[in-house]
Amino acid sequence: MRAIRLFSLAISGIGAVIAIAALSSMQATAVSSASQTEAAVDAQGNLHVPRDYQTNYQQLGSWAVAADEGRGAKQLHVVLASPGSIEAYRKDGRFPDGTVLVKEVFETATKEMTTGTVSHAEKLKGWFVMVRDGNGRYPGNALWGDGWGWSWFDAANPTKTTSTDYRLNCKSCHVPAQATDWIYVDGYPALKR
Ligand code: HEC
Repeated sequence: MRAIRLFSLAISGIGAVIAIAALSSMQATAVSSASQTEAAVDAQGNLHVPRDYQTNYQQLGSWAVAADEGRGAKQLHVVLASPGSIEAYRKDGRFPDGTVLVKEVFETATKEMTTGTVSHAEKLKGWFVMVRDGNGRYPGNALWGDGWGWSWFDAANPTKTTSTDYRLNCKSCHVPAQATDWIYVDGYPALKR
């Protein structure tokens, strides 16, 4: 009897240890996504390009905008997401609060290579940045709404946006993606696996 009681005590002890481990890993995730968001938004809700995105972000996908005349692409768009976003999206089918998306816009150069006619990124024009906001945190700010913060940054100034109102600068162009929270998810195979 005594031995059984000791044994079950030991088991419940293991349970507690596992619960604590799970809790602390949850907190670690919450903390890392909060600091990811902080890297892209200041206390007033002004967005900027997160400094570490090239080394820490996950690649979502890319787009080639065809040249108006001739062959090749005139622009390449490379889209990245803050760490953990892809896993969360595959699980819940949406981007969690605080997710940061960065779209790099490159001018291209096109030439003949051994693979064919190829366009490559030549000059960075700037970045589009979006931050997921499920709580309507900045109701009076014209760059926040419809569940996101929205801003464009010229290559010369990653900390100060030239956007003034997302309804004028962004929203109408994203209407075709309204059903998927305004994001063109069809272009991102990583979300589908
Ligand atoms: C001329 C239309 C147009 C405007 C204006 C526009 N977008 Fe987009 N945006 C698109 C399209 C189309 C895509 C996907 C295809 C592509 O990149 O060419 C896209 C993709 C994005 C992406 C990658 C995630 C996604 O939705 O697939 C971000 C981030 C983004 N836009 C942010 C913005 C922000 C912020 C603004 C305003 C400052 C803005 N866009 C203005 C058309 C537009």
